[in-house]
Amino acid sequence: MSKQIVLTGITTTGTPHLGNYAGAIRPAIKASKDENARPFYFLADYHALIKCQEPERVKQSSLEIAATWLALGLDTSNAVFYRQSDIPEISELSWMLSCVTAKGLMNRAHAYKASVAENEETDGNDPDKGINMGLFSYPILMAADMLMFNANKVPVGKDQIQHIEMARDIASRFNHIYGEHFAIPEAVVDDNAATILGLDGRKMSKSYNNTIPLFEPEKKFKKLINKIKTNSLEPGEPKETEGCTLFGIYQAFASKNEVEDVRQRYAEGIAWGEMKKVLFEKINDEIAPARERYQALMEAPEHIEEQLQEGAKKAREISSPFMQTIRESVGISRINN
Ligand code: TRP
Repeated sequence: MSKQIVLTGITTTGTPHLGNYAGAIRPAIKASKDENARPFYFLADYHALIKCQEPERVKQSSLEIAATWLALGLDTSNAVFYRQSDIPEISELSWMLSCVTAKGLMNRAHAYKASVAENEETDGNDPDKGINMGLFSYPILMAADMLMFNANKVPVGKDQIQHIEMARDIASRFNHIYGEHFAIPEAVVDDNAATILGLDGRKMSKSYNNTIPLFEPEKKFKKLINKIKTNSLEPGEPKETEGCTLFGIYQAFASKNEVEDVRQRYAEGIAWGEMKKVLFEKINDEIAPARERYQALMEAPEHIEEQLQEGAKKAREISSPFMQTIRESVGISRINN
């Protein structure tokens, strides 16, 4: 049996934080070691341009994300790790897919619709204010990412499910017109993946500005843990685990037994300062070795670049001949063959 292609992209607009780590990166790295799967993980730098027009930030984010994944032990002998923009066939395919995609389908995309709705609330005159074509056709580029490598499984967060459904639609439409070229991808949403709350108790997200970057230097990291909001119960007063940000994060890092011990300590009135210490130590034990590798990689970006180039080479061994087939299927080829 051929291996399942598991593919996912990471938009390069931010610095990886604890929430990204527990929710997406850690499971993806574990999956990179599964011999029954062939993972394709890539830096979605073209997607980054849709919402970020700060070149330095896109560049820095690509570096940080690549360093993070490598430092955490991504198995690049099994996984193909590359930059979307290094695969020119992806943007070529994106155009071909655009030409079989109904505009009405894109009108229904949540991200686009949310922007329109916001405009209608604030400025009824121009529903498309500030909306670029990149945002509008975002799902098509994303479909090209998946279809280019015949992805079978696509691990994503819930907010991305619609995009995979659109990719399925687009793939079927292309297959119907031009022949069975594309596998139909399937979204994989891990319901057990940890959702981590941020400093202010809302979901940890760069748009809320409440994140704890994964590889801050140890001291700074500790400081940030200390900044997590708690209620004002005194030491000795029993505390609720339910809805507690510290407890939630602890759960994403500790074993079942450790969690039960801490639950007991909440009932006994553990002091918040003490709980923060416990939490810091737990996370730090897990990430400290990777933090050192991260710092070393950030100082030697040529090693990162080398890995990405190697990934691109592997990816293009697939995308280049496949694109040739796709071109021919739509009637674009040399005229004398
Ligand atoms: N849009 C995805 C996100 O913001 C990232 C992404 C780009 C992606 N291309 C992809 C995810 C292809 C899965 C498959 O999270």
